[in-house]
Amino acid sequence: MQRIGIDRLKPGLELAKDLYSFDGQLLLARGTVIESRHLSRLAQLGISHLYILESASVPGGQEAFGKVYEQSLNTVKIFMLEARLGQPLPRNEVLDTVDLLLNQVFDEVNIFKQLRLMKEKDEYLFTHSINVALLGILMARWLKLDEAVIKQVGLAGILHDIGKVLVSPEILEKPGPLTPSEFEEIKKHTVLGYNLASQYDWIPSEVSNAVLMHHERLDGSGYPLGASGESIGYLARMIAVADMYDAITSARVYSPKETPYKAAEVLWRESFGKLDPKAAKVFYDRAASFYVGQRVRLSNGEEGEVIYTNPTWPTRPTVKVDGKFYDLAQDRNVTIKEIID
Ligand SMILES: [Fe+2]
Ligand SMILES: [Fe+2]
Repeated sequence: MQRIGIDRLKPGLELAKDLYSFDGQLLLARGTVIESRHLSRLAQLGISHLYILESASVPGGQEAFGKVYEQSLNTVKIFMLEARLGQPLPRNEVLDTVDLLLNQVFDEVNIFKQLRLMKEKDEYLFTHSINVALLGILMARWLKLDEAVIKQVGLAGILHDIGKVLVSPEILEKPGPLTPSEFEEIKKHTVLGYNLASQYDWIPSEVSNAVLMHHERLDGSGYPLGASGESIGYLARMIAVADMYDAITSARVYSPKETPYKAAEVLWRESFGKLDPKAAKVFYDRAASFYVGQRVRLSNGEEGEVIYTNPTWPTRPTVKVDGKFYDLAQDRNVTIKEIID
C-alpha cells in the first residue's frame, strides 16, 4: 500500500483503502480502479491524498525507504562516534547521506509512518539526527524553498546535535530530570557543535549557525545566546521546528513518546512567539493529513480509523469506530491517545 498525492494519481491505479468525505460518506470503495473521470471529481471534493496498491509505476515504496534509512543511520553513527574520538568529519560520506535523504523525501512516501517504525530503535541521537534532516527537508519542500536551501536544511538536520557527542554520556542518557548544572552541560552541545562544524569549509556558515542556534527562540527565551527575532537564521528556525516535533514524538530516556497530534498542537502553541510561525504552521497544517487511514486509540478506549482531516483543525480529525463516526472537532471530550501500527 502506498500513499500518493492526487496530482500523481493516474487511471488504472487501484485504491487500497475506502475513501471517505468529511461527513463520513463513502466516496470510493477499496479495490476501485481509478478512471480519468475520478480525477477532477476528487480534486473538487478537496481530497489531496489517497492510498493505492503498491505499483511499480509510482516510485518510492516503503521498502526502499527502509533501506535508505538504515544506510544513512549507519553512516551517521560511524561519523558521530568517530567525531567523539576526535576524528575529522568525512565530507563525502556526510554530503552523500544528505543527497540520499533528499531523494527519499517526496510527498508520496509516508515519512511519518516510516519514522514511527524506525523509532523502535534505541539509538536516539543517531535516529534523531536523520529524522530531523528528513522532517526539515519535507518542511522546506512544503515551503517551496530553493533546492540549494533544502540541501542546507538536510545538512543542518544531520549535524544539528553533533555537539552532543562531546557531552558526557552519563548526563546525555540520564533517566529522570536533570539538575540545573547538568542542564547547563547539555546546553553546551550547541557551542561544541558549532566549534566542530565551523572548522570545515565544505560546511556553509549558515549550517554552522543553525547548529549553534537551533535552540534559540524568537522571543529570546532560548539558548545558548538568548538571541531573538531576525538574528536567528532561517535554517535554525526550521531545524527548531523539526527538532521539537521529533523530540515530542520519540520515546526518550526521560519521557514517553506522544502522538503526532499532540506534537502538532505543541508546535501550534509555540508558533506564537517562540517558533517561526510559517515553518510551524506548514507543519501543523500538513503533518496531520498523513494520518488518514491510520488506526488510532481514542481517549475513551475505543479503537478506530482516521478517515478525514479537518483542514481548519487538523489535529482533530474524524475517526470511524465500527459504524460510528467521531468528529473530534465537535466531540471536544474525546482525543486521540495513541497511534496503532
Ligand atoms: Fe539540540
Ligand atoms: Fe535535536
